[in-house]
Amino acid sequence: MRFTASPVVELPVGGAVLTFEQDNDSFEVGTSVWPSSLVLVKFAERCLRDPALPFADVLRFPGTRAVELGSGCGPAGLGLSRLGLADLVLTDIAAVLPALRRNLRRNRRHLPRAPRLAQLHWNCPAHLASIASPRRFDLVVAADVVYVPESVPHLVAAMDALADADRGVVLLGYQVRSPEAHQAFWDAVPAAFPVIEKIPREHLDPDYAYEESDVFVLRRRPRQFPLHLQPGLSRSFPNSASRRLNQSKVRLISLAILSSASKSLALLFVFANRGPIFRSSRRSKAGIQNGKEKVRFVRSRAQVSVEVF
Ligand SMILES: C[S@@+](CC[C@H](N)C(=O)[O-])C[C@H]1O[C@@H](n2cnc3c(N)ncnc32)[C@H](O)[C@@H]1O
Repeated sequence: MRFTASPVVELPVGGAVLTFEQDNDSFEVGTSVWPSSLVLVKFAERCLRDPALPFADVLRFPGTRAVELGSGCGPAGLGLSRLGLADLVLTDIAAVLPALRRNLRRNRRHLPRAPRLAQLHWNCPAHLASIASPRRFDLVVAADVVYVPESVPHLVAAMDALADADRGVVLLGYQVRSPEAHQAFWDAVPAAFPVIEKIPREHLDPDYAYEESDVFVLRRRPRQFPLHLQPGLSRSFPNSASRRLNQSKVRLISLAILSSASKSLALLFVFANRGPIFRSSRRSKAGIQNGKEKVRFVRSRAQVSVEVF
């Protein structure tokens, strides 16, 4: 983990080295670079390089409108910008914006397009309304923002207000800073983002897998894997989906569609490494449940989607 207390923190990403000037003696926490932001960026870089890794939907940047909350010196947002997140607003409280602006200037030449900066205090409805105009965002990014219990309701409300009500996703770099804030945050999140996915450690960049930092994806609705029905189609799902089904036993799920939807019988099989674990015909709408994890098939005439909870 390349985390340092030195005045300048380096972040190699997308073939460039971004540098962030930090001031650890400042009263503002946002003038330091915090580790989970680096973990988040290096995870994104890894996912973008290897499309076989899951969560590609979150990191498919072209056309994505994004906003970052509590950008601080900007490592998460500027790192993602370097990776191609072109339509991005970086935000923080007024006292931190000068440090953010300085770091944006420092790194501008490495960015395909400069992100915009905006003042945002999470409990300020006017700031939120102005940033969410003309419309809300596909992606809300935040790193290391959960540490003051009193701020947590405002933070979650801001995520909720800024993320598109239907398909908005939060990409969160996370570290437990305060047990009270941690508890309050995870108690509040499901009302706005019922689907919480923790990135498995093996998908993080090993050089930046700082043991206390995690990356989460928070969603409005279950992730869907759409499939066009074709006889004989077989499709494998990312390991993370199978892992969510059964932590250790299931390594591979594949879906075999043996006949098309236009025929009277469409059979869906989910195979695990120990043979079929689920079978569904047109008449069956049930999902499978394993502990609290669940897979459900949603079928229309031309397409079947698999939702993983
Ligand atoms: C621990 S720092 C993390 C900074 C940066 N994301 C990083 O990872 O390096 C938390 C950030 O959240 C911002 N923040 C804290 N409370 C806030 C609030 N109520 N409204 C807006 N920003 C806030 C701080 O100013 C700071 O920049």
